[in-house]
Amino acid sequence: MTSEAPKRPTLSVPFAMEHPDRARKERYYDAEFYRLETEQLWPRVWQMACRLEQIPEPNDFITYEFLDQSVIVLRTGDGGVRAFQNACRHRGVQIVEGRGSLKSSGFTCPFHGWCYGVDGANTAVTQSRSFAEHNLDPDDINLASVRSEAWGGCAWINLDLEAPPLRQCIEPFATVFDAWKLESMRAEWWYACRLPVNWKLAMEAFMEQYHVLETHPQLRIPGRIPPRDGKPFDPQAWIDSELQYLHAMSDGMAGMVHASDVGTAEGLRTMELPVDPVAAIPMWNRALNDAVVEWHESAGHDVPDLNALERDGLNEPMGHCFPHFFVLPMYSSASSYRFRPLGPEETLMELWSLTRFASDSEPVPLPTPEVWECDDPRWPPIPAQDFSNLPRQQRGLHAKGFEYMRLSERAEGGLSNFERVVDGFLAGLPYERLLPALRSVNVNPLEMPIVDLGF
Ligand code: FES
Ligand SMILES: [Fe+2]
Repeated sequence: MTSEAPKRPTLSVPFAMEHPDRARKERYYDAEFYRLETEQLWPRVWQMACRLEQIPEPNDFITYEFLDQSVIVLRTGDGGVRAFQNACRHRGVQIVEGRGSLKSSGFTCPFHGWCYGVDGANTAVTQSRSFAEHNLDPDDINLASVRSEAWGGCAWINLDLEAPPLRQCIEPFATVFDAWKLESMRAEWWYACRLPVNWKLAMEAFMEQYHVLETHPQLRIPGRIPPRDGKPFDPQAWIDSELQYLHAMSDGMAGMVHASDVGTAEGLRTMELPVDPVAAIPMWNRALNDAVVEWHESAGHDVPDLNALERDGLNEPMGHCFPHFFVLPMYSSASSYRFRPLGPEETLMELWSLTRFASDSEPVPLPTPEVWECDDPRWPPIPAQDFSNLPRQQRGLHAKGFEYMRLSERAEGGLSNFERVVDGFLAGLPYERLLPALRSVNVNPLEMPIVDLGF
């Protein structure tokens, strides 16, 4: 007897998540599905537009591009941000490209020289008397403003004037990473990768741990999982295996655990631990947390109390901020990812390594990275292993005999929850229905079960 997969009422979206544990393949390449995303999802969500280190000084600007949209993000004198659509109100030329710094006089369009102040207001129309009055209505010739907010060391934008404020849309991610003092971190490096796959497929390779044993065999470290059946536990061998893991996460991931924290952990290598793993492992974790905090505090860094985070249940390895941003904290540091669609089957993935720094230190310029292909030999081993599966998966989805991904209810529930929130946007649900669902996905997606989103 075969069992029927449970269905839920389906939103009127093509290729919807009719069964919460099945994702139809067309979601990852169909042109109509992609078009719906460009119309119903991306223009309605808060997006991490840049790190503030990219625009450290007042009047520094950068353009944030997504789909066919370009938004100018400008740093203001009070440390905040302001954003505009990057199109001259005369004949639509993009006012600026890339990044730079404005003089206090503002923007000048390179085509006919219309000028705009740093607040986006039009300040000059060349040969204005040649225009009919109705084409120079003062309210209609300022740069179109875009909603923007600064939070967590980043600038955020949203094209939708009706969307709730940033914080409401990204909770509980915002509360968790306020506790982590995300705003006190800064990027040590930034890499970018072009992946020949759909943006959701790319993200989902990082949203579960089910793949780790097969894809990343170097993280399968003997002795790291303590014996459960009363077999003897050797604390020193366990510490050695834990340090081996920290080194693998630091070197293989290019600093997912910061080298300074690995150094701090090395200083505890000979720590005495009890022979009961139930007591030994928490004791090690507490000692390492305290040692890391102490090291950073003595260097003048703003660092959270890692044991307090642990106690408050906030020490999760990953946080997802719908739709396309992730932070993965480990000890004092964190990695951060962002994924942008470049087409139905092409994605730009960016990776940042975030570290603590002394608050009185000079801002460090963050150069825009060259975009590497996913098989570039410069990728560290762990992302290289993740990337190696992705093009094969995207091609495999097109197989005539393949209809849908079957998701593990417990190990891949985070993927289902995410895909079903996408459906909520594509169906045009109002924000009062989307906000509770967003709260279910702006969390750690790893090991999340499938949850009821209310639609
Ligand atoms: S398009 Fe900008 S001044 Fe003409
Ligand atoms: Fe991975």
